[in-house]
Amino acid sequence: MANNEDQFKKVLSHAKEYGYVFQSSEIYDGLSAVYDYAQNGVELKKNIRDYWWKAMVQLNDNIVGIDAAIFMHPTTWKASGHVDAFNDPLIDNKDSKKRYRADVLIEDYCAKIEAKIDKEVKKAEKRFGDAFNKEEFVSTNGRVLGYQEKINTILSRMAKSLENEDLADVKALIEELEIADPLSGSKNWTDVKQFNLMFGTKLGASADSAMDLYLRPETAQGIFVNFLNVQKTGRMKIPFGIAQTGKAFRNEIVARQFIFRMREFEQMEMQFFIKPGTQTEWFKHWKEARLKWHLSLGLGEDNYRFHDHEKLAHYADAATDIEFKFPFGFKELEGIHSRTDFDLKQHEEYSGKKLQYFDHEENESYTPYVLETSIGLDRMFLAVFSNSLIEEELEDGSSRTVLKLPAVLAPVKAAILPLVKKDEGLVKLSKQIIEDLKWDYNVVYDEKDAVGRRYRRQDANGTPFCITVDGESLENNTVTIRHRDTMEQQRVKIEDLKSIIKKEVDVKEWLMKM
Ligand code: GAP
Repeated sequence: MANNEDQFKKVLSHAKEYGYVFQSSEIYDGLSAVYDYAQNGVELKKNIRDYWWKAMVQLNDNIVGIDAAIFMHPTTWKASGHVDAFNDPLIDNKDSKKRYRADVLIEDYCAKIEAKIDKEVKKAEKRFGDAFNKEEFVSTNGRVLGYQEKINTILSRMAKSLENEDLADVKALIEELEIADPLSGSKNWTDVKQFNLMFGTKLGASADSAMDLYLRPETAQGIFVNFLNVQKTGRMKIPFGIAQTGKAFRNEIVARQFIFRMREFEQMEMQFFIKPGTQTEWFKHWKEARLKWHLSLGLGEDNYRFHDHEKLAHYADAATDIEFKFPFGFKELEGIHSRTDFDLKQHEEYSGKKLQYFDHEENESYTPYVLETSIGLDRMFLAVFSNSLIEEELEDGSSRTVLKLPAVLAPVKAAILPLVKKDEGLVKLSKQIIEDLKWDYNVVYDEKDAVGRRYRRQDANGTPFCITVDGESLENNTVTIRHRDTMEQQRVKIEDLKSIIKKEVDVKEWLMKM
């Protein structure tokens, strides 16, 4: 069994080898924390985006979509608080000259303690076998409780110091915990400073008249500034939502862990506008609804957990993260935030325009409250991809690498393989099958190598079905269909292929599990 670091290395190399993700500008040695999606990656990403859009927009008659520009008026970011407060606490190591996020150094320290808890749990699991009760064990075992208390003490002190802008205490905490530079091992740290994460750029040709702009650090503000436009033109009644997917940019300092933390990434966000006072019930609703969406993909219930925020941003009255078990541990995948009326009120103040809703039933105007769901598309990609990559031992003692992507998300749904590439009849029939299937599904033709090798290649590529065309196919219009996960093969009629594939890849079937 590969350890987590090995597993993560495999994810990286597999993503490249099978055309999912490439380093940006690789021929120039790449650009740090910027990635390109390759021929399979772009399809997987699109399928995840569509899966989200269908669940959030198409299936909710009170949610509509928009596609706002990346460039926004610079005052937007004053109003939203990003100019003044979208900062990360940074610390430099004087010996290695490397720069780190102080909070991430502390969180990584806590993750190591958490790994010790996991170890205790695994040991106990082995010892007690079927009688093992994980919940009871973690709530009673002295050693585990001690570790957990240590984590809580560290994280709450850090949260308090950051909230109070007490950066000296953040440094003191790093020193007290004897945290060393992960690369050099040095503990020779500078003071902690704040660093704004927004990328600046200029709009306009001449140096004098050019306007300073920012690349948006979140898509949400494009929704807030369009709130009234959409509400009026769409005749939307509260409660209603506006959804959007699109690029966001952050000058991340700790840019690592592959596509988990990028400088250019994509978000899928939804702002749900509600009546003030109803936020607790809607927070609960969206927490449940979003978790169900995740679970519908079958990546395993144990791989998700909520992390409720104790320390809330100044605009929020509740917030939680849906965390996913990535190869490097549980980390935030999606945020659900009860943002009150903060954003709309700020935009009212800075623009001087009223952003209120007139409630005909109550005969009153008010500034709606907002419930936000915000998920990183790239992080979702990594969650799906890393969870699906499996090294499987087979009964005959051999092994295979298989990418068990949820079939609904797989970039290629079926590969059509003529058993013998020199047989013109088989090639012709294979191409006819492709001509027919390609209107509904992304399919590929594969004739190179022995059929067994082609199966393995498609397994590693994540293709749910291989359809083999052989001599019998020419006689009775049947083919063999092989299922990626079970490796089972069935002889089926060519005319039934579409319905067989549909049964496993149909979005409706998957979303109905919600
Ligand atoms: N509008 C709210 C907002 O932007 P956030 O927690 O900063 O909240 C939301 O970001 C989601 O965007 C995160 O849960 C994560 O999935 C994704 N995300 C944030 N920064 C990212 C980065 N640098 N690279 C990839 N995904 C990122």
